[in-house]
Amino acid sequence: MPSQAYQCRLGPLVQSFPTAPLPHPRASGYRGCMTPTLADCRAWDAEDALAFTRGRFRLPESVIYLDGNSLGALPIATPGRLADLVEREWGQGLISSWNDAEWMALPARVGARIAHLIGAHADEVIAADSTSVNLYKLAAAAVSLRPDRRVIMSEPGNFPTDLYVLQGLCAALDLELRVLPAEAIAGALTNEVALLVLTHVHYKSGLILDMAALTAAAQARGALALWDLSHSAGALPVDLNGCNADFAVGCGYKYFNGGPGAPGYMMAARRHHAAMGQPLTGWIGHAAPFAFGDNYTPADGVTRLLTGTPAVLGLAALEEGLKTFEGVSMQQLREKAIRQGDLFMALARDAMGGAFELASPTDADARGSQISLRHPHGYAMVQALIEAGVVGDFRAPDVARFGFTPLYLSYADVFEAGRRLKIVMDEERWRAPRFAQRRAVT
Ligand SMILES: Cc1ncc(COP(=O)(O)O)c(C=O)c1O
Repeated sequence: MPSQAYQCRLGPLVQSFPTAPLPHPRASGYRGCMTPTLADCRAWDAEDALAFTRGRFRLPESVIYLDGNSLGALPIATPGRLADLVEREWGQGLISSWNDAEWMALPARVGARIAHLIGAHADEVIAADSTSVNLYKLAAAAVSLRPDRRVIMSEPGNFPTDLYVLQGLCAALDLELRVLPAEAIAGALTNEVALLVLTHVHYKSGLILDMAALTAAAQARGALALWDLSHSAGALPVDLNGCNADFAVGCGYKYFNGGPGAPGYMMAARRHHAAMGQPLTGWIGHAAPFAFGDNYTPADGVTRLLTGTPAVLGLAALEEGLKTFEGVSMQQLREKAIRQGDLFMALARDAMGGAFELASPTDADARGSQISLRHPHGYAMVQALIEAGVVGDFRAPDVARFGFTPLYLSYADVFEAGRRLKIVMDEERWRAPRFAQRRAVT
């Protein structure tokens, strides 16, 4: 049976954690409970209602993969689907497959699967392009709906591409990008603000922002709200329509398991469909692409958010990634992720003592599906751990990040990750000079 002590939830290592810039949280004050044992973990695994999804993935033996928040694992069905697509649909069907294999339907079909996981209607979501490109399109669409307003608001320390894209858009349209700490935003919204752009779960800390409250605050001042779901969709229940969100974007290669460079997606609430325009007015977003007219007429609905030819291989892989969620309750998934995160936090504390600072909220309800630890040698630590078969990642300047993906991670896996972390720390393996060599992708 799971130890009773664990039921009391871990006490706070950090009292509060503003999103950005990352503060140095106080690592004292832990009033912890007993750390769960391997027997506890096995008992949880034995009664895990999501255990069946592990068989939907192919993972290397002995690797504990704590980086599905960055690149999801390979679904077992993906290689076969891609091989069939390449050999039969492309190799044999050639160009006829645009019709016969319904390649043109992929953006909407994949979008409908995503809609189901983010609290949107099927006709509000479409898959295409990268998150960066999609953000540009939707942010431009949003500000065009508020032509008398000149400000886009976001937070410092947001994922860099979000800020860079907004900087580029503001330069192109002569708008102002105003960045304020998330906790200051509600009080700083004025009637100059056209659009609020925020990331639902912070990529470094894992802190969850209150989508409903911030959306309502923006809309109360006449602004629109656009959410980046890259670290929340597929990790926790997201309810865009329940929060009355206007627009959203997100990645296909993280929790959705779509593979490296998988297409992203765009969500636009139905109420904006008729009026919204977007700047990358390519032929696939045209009302009649095969009429080959000279002048642009937007397609209906979210189809107008498309630009060029669908990336068929990437979309097919993303579709397989999304199928791994079939029959999965997002609530159950969330509960498992929370317990795994709490478990890892306790194990990290035991493995590292005071040698790290926690960069994620201790309150699991305020945290996405990741635990971030700050350590002055975080990069080397992550590399040494990878060599020991525990894959996490590193975000400069000092954050070691570990993601929890309940579809293919057991409690015993998390326990084993903690055991290996302890070995790496006890033996100070991270001090080996080879682990200090920075590679291009961290
Ligand atoms: C919050 C967030 N937005 C966007 C991206 C990436 O966007 P793109 O797929 O365009 O590289 C990431 C990647 O990690 C991210 O964390």
